[in-house]
Amino acid sequence: MSGEKRIAVLVSGGGTNLQALLDAEARGDLQPGKIAAVVASAPGVYALERAKQAGVPAYVMARKDYPSSKAYTIALTEFLQGQKIDLVILAGFMTILTEEMVKAFPNAILNVHPALIPSFCGAGYFGLHVHEAALSYGVKVSGATVHFVSEECDGGPIVMQKAVPVLEGDTPETLQRRVMEQAEWQILPQAAALFCRGRLRVHGRVVHITEE
Ligand code: GAR
Repeated sequence: MSGEKRIAVLVSGGGTNLQALLDAEARGDLQPGKIAAVVASAPGVYALERAKQAGVPAYVMARKDYPSSKAYTIALTEFLQGQKIDLVILAGFMTILTEEMVKAFPNAILNVHPALIPSFCGAGYFGLHVHEAALSYGVKVSGATVHFVSEECDGGPIVMQKAVPVLEGDTPETLQRRVMEQAEWQILPQAAALFCRGRLRVHGRVVHITEE
């Protein structure tokens, strides 16, 4: 298909956000985006199974096989360039990437973070830790953010955010589930589709969504 946008999804775990993307593609909601590759940072993660079931080529590039984050990032970047990838999506990708990837894919890497940035983000805030921090701070609202990846951890331009309530009696696990279901799984495919349709304009750190 002409104008097709090739998407690579980078994963490290269960891959529920990958599943949301695969489901969106199956419904036709990602067009002209096509998930062309899934890359895992470790073998055996369930996200690989999800890719296989959807018939998407899945690859393992294990972080432990490389001596440094920089060496890993360079190898991964070269792999993605070889695959002619237009959009890279970090969907629960728990490995630090260095500047080489950002330089190779300027404003073309999306990350989903399970909080309303700039709250509960940056080094050390990943997975359940984010929800533990939100609960111990006592916030009444949390949510998810999809942003472009820049050289600052969780600091790139914000594409979409969605808030969800924190409820009495929440545990990190119940809050994580609500943030995933009501926010992450919705805004990540939406943001990916907007990118693939050429509807995102980045001015400084502000992202404008243009009319179709
Ligand atoms: C998601 O909640 C994602 O936002 C988070 O890890 C989880 C991965 O779940 N990512 C981060 O914390 C990155 N800083 P998944 O593998 O089921 O998509």
